[in-house]
Amino acid sequence: MHVQTFDTYDELSRAAADMVADQLRVKADPVLGLATGSTPEGMYTELRLMHGSGSLSFKNVITFNLDEYAGILPENPQSYHYYMNQNLFDHVDIPRDAINLPSADIDNALFGCQNYEDKIAELGGIDLQVLGLGLDGHIGFNEPGSAFDSRTRPVELDESTRQANARFFDNIDQVPTQAITMGIGTIMEARKILLLVNGEAKADILRRVLHGEITKQVPASVLQNHPDVTVLTDIKL
Ligand code: F6R
Repeated sequence: MHVQTFDTYDELSRAAADMVADQLRVKADPVLGLATGSTPEGMYTELRLMHGSGSLSFKNVITFNLDEYAGILPENPQSYHYYMNQNLFDHVDIPRDAINLPSADIDNALFGCQNYEDKIAELGGIDLQVLGLGLDGHIGFNEPGSAFDSRTRPVELDESTRQANARFFDNIDQVPTQAITMGIGTIMEARKILLLVNGEAKADILRRVLHGEITKQVPASVLQNHPDVTVLTDIKL
C-alpha cells in the first residue's frame, strides 16, 4: 500500500479530490465507487469547487456507493442517499440515472443485492473505489468477521459502529441495526482503491491495517493483498 501523510485534513481532502479528478479525466466513462461518513466530506467539498470553477465534469461518470442503512428511505436526512445528494450529486452535472446506491429495502435484499453486483459487472467494474475506515477496521459496513470473498448483502451493524454513527442521529435508538453493504470481494475487485483516514482516534486501527496480520478481525487489512491501494492520512504513524 502506498501511504501519503498530510499535515492537515484540508490537504488530505484536496489530494483525495485530485486523485478522483485524475480518474475522471483519464477515462471517457469512469466508474467510481463512493463512500459516505465524515472523512470524505472535505473531498466532496473540493470536488464541488472543481466542478463550480468549470474544471471538472461528471457528465460521463457512473457511481456506486458502498452502503446504505436498512429501512432508511432516500428522503430521510439520515440516509446515505440524502448525504450523497447534499455533498455531491445535487451540485454537479452527473445524470441521475448514473447514480447507484444499495436499496434500503431489506425485504427485497436478495434481488437488490444481486442486481447491484450485476450492474457493476455489466459496466466493466469499478475503476476507483473511495473508502473510509471504521474504528473497528470495517470498510463499507463489512464488520469484523466478514468473509474476504463476501458480496453485496444485508449485514448487522456492530454495536461499536452504531455508537460511532449515533452522532448523526438524535439518539442511539434511532441508529439502524442493519445495513446493505458492498462485500469485501466486491471492493477488492476495484482496479484502484483510495483509503482516506483522518484523526488520531484511528491511529491504532490504521497501524493494524497497514502493518498487522491480514485477518477477518480487521477487515481493512485485506487491502494489503490489493495491488493498487493509496492511503491518504493526516495521522503521523
Ligand atoms: C461509509 C462507510 C463506512 C465509513 C466508516 C468511517 O459509506 O462505508 O465504512 O467510511 O465508518 O466513517 P467516518 O468517516 O464517519 O469516520
